[in-house]
Amino acid sequence: MQRFQEKVVVITGSGRGIGQAMAKMFAKEGAKVTVNDIDTGPAEETVQAIKADGGTAIACVADVTKADEAQRIMDMTVGEFGKLDVLVNNAGLIRDNLIHKMTDKQWDIVIDINLRGAFNCTRAAAKYMRKPNHNGRVIYVSSVSGLMGNVGQINYSAAKAGLIGMTKTVAKEWARYGITVNAVAYGLVDTRLTGEKETSEEVMGEKVGIPKKIRDQFLAQMGGAMLTPEQAAAPVLFLASEDAVGITGNTINVSRGLYI
Ligand SMILES: NC(=O)c1ccc[n+]([C@@H]2O[C@H](COP(=O)([O-])OP(=O)(O)OC[C@H]3O[C@@H](n4cnc5c(N)ncnc54)[C@H](O)[C@@H]3O)[C@@H](O)[C@H]2O)c1
Repeated sequence: MQRFQEKVVVITGSGRGIGQAMAKMFAKEGAKVTVNDIDTGPAEETVQAIKADGGTAIACVADVTKADEAQRIMDMTVGEFGKLDVLVNNAGLIRDNLIHKMTDKQWDIVIDINLRGAFNCTRAAAKYMRKPNHNGRVIYVSSVSGLMGNVGQINYSAAKAGLIGMTKTVAKEWARYGITVNAVAYGLVDTRLTGEKETSEEVMGEKVGIPKKIRDQFLAQMGGAMLTPEQAAAPVLFLASEDAVGITGNTINVSRGLYI
C-alpha cells in the first residue's frame, strides 16, 4: 500500500522548484495530483513527467491571487478526482529591497502571491474540506525569513510570518473536521529564486536571487549547501501522511541550521 493511495492533492505553484518536487513525490506514492501554476508550460511539463512515470495528475493554470481562479483550482480538482484531501499552499515569489527603497508594487505582489494566494486557496477549499471526519491536511510554505526576519525582505518576511498566523487559525477552525494544518519554514533551497543575484534570471519582470556575499554567509550556516527541492519536499509529505496525525498548528523549521 502506497502512502497516498486514493488521496487527492492540490499543490499551488508546482510547475517548478519545490512544488514540482512535491507533485512528483506525491504522485510516486500514489496520490492524484493537481499541478497548479500561473505558467502553462511548466505546469503541463510537470504533468507529462508524472504521467510518464506512471502517476496521475492534471494541470490547472490559474493565478492564486485571484479568488475566482483559486476556486477554479479546487472545483476542477473535485470535478476530476471526486474529492480534495490535501492542499499545499506553495506558490510564492520574492521582490527584495531595503525598507526605504521598497516600492508599493514590490510590497503588493509579494503579499498578494504569498499571503492572499494562500488565503484564497484555503477559503476556496473550505467547501470541499469542512466535512465531518474529513481527516485532510493543509500545509503552508513559509520561510525562516518569517521566523527571524531578513534584511531586504520586509514584504516577504511579513507575508511568511502571516502564513504562520494563518496556520494556527485554520488549525483551530478545522480541527473539528479532523483536518491538520501546519507550515514548513524553509532555509535556502536550490531553485530559480536562490541563485546569485549578480547573475540570476528575471522572474515576472525583475531579477531575483540573493547577493553573493549574503548567500555565502547563509550557506556556511547550512553546512555549505542548499537543500535540494526533494529534501525540502519530504517533510511536507510527512505532514500530509497518516504518521503526522497528531501534529497541527505547527511550523516545522526545514533549514538545516540557517535558523536555530
Ligand atoms: N527556494 C527557497 O530557498 C525558499 C526558501 C523559503 C521559502 N520558499 C518558498 O517555497 C515556495 C516555492 O518556491 P520555489 O523556490 O520553488 O520557487 P519557484 O519560483 O521555483 O516556484 C514557484 C512557482 O510558483 C508559481 N507562481 C508564482 N506566482 C503564482 C501565482 N500567482 N499563481 C500560481 N502560481 C504562481 C511560479 O510560476 C513558480 O512555478 C515559495 O512559497 C517560496 O516562497 C523557498
